Amino acid sequence: MSKTYNAKFSSFGSFTPAKILNNFDLEKIVDTSDEWIRTRTGMFERHIASENEAASDLAYQAAVRAIESSSVKYKDIDHIIIATISGDHPFPSTACVIQKKLGLKNIPAFDISAGCTGFIYAIDVARQYVENGAAQNILVIGVEILTKITNWKDRNTCVLFGDAAGAAIISRAESSEISLIIDSLIEADGSQGEYLIQKAGGSRMPASHETVDQNLHTVYMEGNRIFKSAIKCMYAACTEILARNDLKVADIDWIIPHQANLRIIEALASKLKVPMSKIIVNIEKYGNTSSATIPLAVDEAIRAQKIRRGDKILLTSFGAGLTWGSVLARY
Ligand code: ACO
Repeated sequence: MSKTYNAKFSSFGSFTPAKILNNFDLEKIVDTSDEWIRTRTGMFERHIASENEAASDLAYQAAVRAIESSSVKYKDIDHIIIATISGDHPFPSTACVIQKKLGLKNIPAFDISAGCTGFIYAIDVARQYVENGAAQNILVIGVEILTKITNWKDRNTCVLFGDAAGAAIISRAESSEISLIIDSLIEADGSQGEYLIQKAGGSRMPASHETVDQNLHTVYMEGNRIFKSAIKCMYAACTEILARNDLKVADIDWIIPHQANLRIIEALASKLKVPMSKIIVNIEKYGNTSSATIPLAVDEAIRAQKIRRGDKILLTSFGAGLTWGSVLARY
């Protein structure tokens, strides 16, 4: 596809709520153990939003951190795109709520629903606006409070999720700049949507006393099926994007995969023949924060001075839809 301009990541920012729930706390809620959770998922603790915190509260903090880490001024942001499946309300979009909180007026703001792949989808969309000249600085946020749509009696799912927001500013890049979003790839397979779904609350099954009694407003997941597809699809998304850009995995400095399960990440690394030392992993501290895992992990790695300007990074994710994708960039 021809493009008029280049796009780059100007900055990242992230935010997690203060309250922390660890595996021992979960032992008191459902029939599970620290040993099972650690060995089957790699998770130890996760941050949980308070009763009063909604997605836009977390997203706002992450957005402020991203903006203040960049040279972009608030008034220079010309689009807001939020990836979420647990926004403040079914409507209006959480992006519109954030527009108001940031005091930004008369700019487009919309949400994207692609489960845990939402941040990758949002980057793919933002990139097109910047590359065709329709925007210069886009605020992209992945935010999720899945713990509010979790069935706390279902040990298969309730141990997995945490809450967080991660933001990035995607800006026009001068041709002389080292920073560049090289490529992005998004895919979906709707025929497998039923394996990871919030069954009620939409027009298919509107909210009723029965849907609440039957816990149909919470995350339903057939973990084992998702596990296998996650490895296969993220591997395909990584190898395809590298091949079409004439790059080898050895050319990449850091791979930042979706943090859903340490075993999925290790299997992906092994298939790609990449040492775990090149993969950014923070699942032990945060669990699966869905569309927030990647920007949260990238932001932490930048602040820890692991990822530096000019490093080649490969982001990849997988989630509800089913959806998957990857982003290749020089930070
Ligand atoms: N504590 C103790 N035992 C448990 C727990 C728990 N928390 N959860 C499940 N078990 C038990 C099961 O009941 C089962 O017992 P059984 O053999 O007696 O029936 C046993 O452990 C094995 O269960 P599996 O589901 O086969 O366990 P698996 O090894 O597959 O791990 C997990 C489950 C962690 C969910 C894994 O399948 C996974 O990570 N799946 C992918 C998740 C993912 O990537 N999701 C996509 C993103 S989410 C989004 O988009 C919103």
